[in-house]
Amino acid sequence: MAVVDAVHLGGLAAEAARGCFITFEGPEGAGKTTQIRRLQERLENEGFAVVVTREPGATTLGQALRRLMLDGDQEPLAPAAMALLMSADRAQHVATVIRPALSMGAVVISDRYADSTYAYQGYGEGLDLGELRKITHLATGGLEPDLTVLLDLEPALGIARKRHAHRTGRAELNSMDERSIEFHRRVRAGFKALAQEDPSRFVVLDATGPADLLTMRIWKEVGEMIGVR
Ligand code: TYD
Repeated sequence: MAVVDAVHLGGLAAEAARGCFITFEGPEGAGKTTQIRRLQERLENEGFAVVVTREPGATTLGQALRRLMLDGDQEPLAPAAMALLMSADRAQHVATVIRPALSMGAVVISDRYADSTYAYQGYGEGLDLGELRKITHLATGGLEPDLTVLLDLEPALGIARKRHAHRTGRAELNSMDERSIEFHRRVRAGFKALAQEDPSRFVVLDATGPADLLTMRIWKEVGEMIGVR
């Protein structure tokens, strides 16, 4: 991809550069963090500038919103309030982290983005997808990922993985983890429906397979997209 090659070649065409935007999505406990870290390492070894970020909570505003949204001690939020706060987090994130990094020619990898709002607040909570898309457009100015890696797995397994990680001090639990398994199944089905609607942007991978195999498959997709093998 020419835009990324500008960075690869030392930023010679930096003013014309537009980096590459990759998002990771999936139900709880799918192993996004591990795969993002490995992808970052690989890209950096190949000479790319990489910015790893996440939603919610990547900015100062986002940190405050994240506590309000996901801390189990807070009052439960109405689904529309949650959708609007996630979108406020995203607006700040896009404006102050993602767009500036892309305009410097970096590869930006975000752990969750707008598809999470469609899956959790749309398919999970039943909010209207058309309305969520409008709010999202306001928040992002229409910025869409170039590639979305959906790590798919049965929610009962994902939540069990996350609880285990929590017990061993490797993960935090949040208010979403307390939701019913039916809710998480709707979210998972939502992610799959979103992927089916947009097959050129999504790659769907079975997150129950060996982590090394997943890493290889993710690199195959990303490497092809940015023109490195
Ligand atoms: P987090 O602790 O970051 O967990 P994970 O490793 O699963 O990403 O929690 C983020 C939670 O917020 C997760 O349960 C998904 C949820 N979420 C939404 O409901 N809507 C959104 O738009 C986003 C970005 C996240």
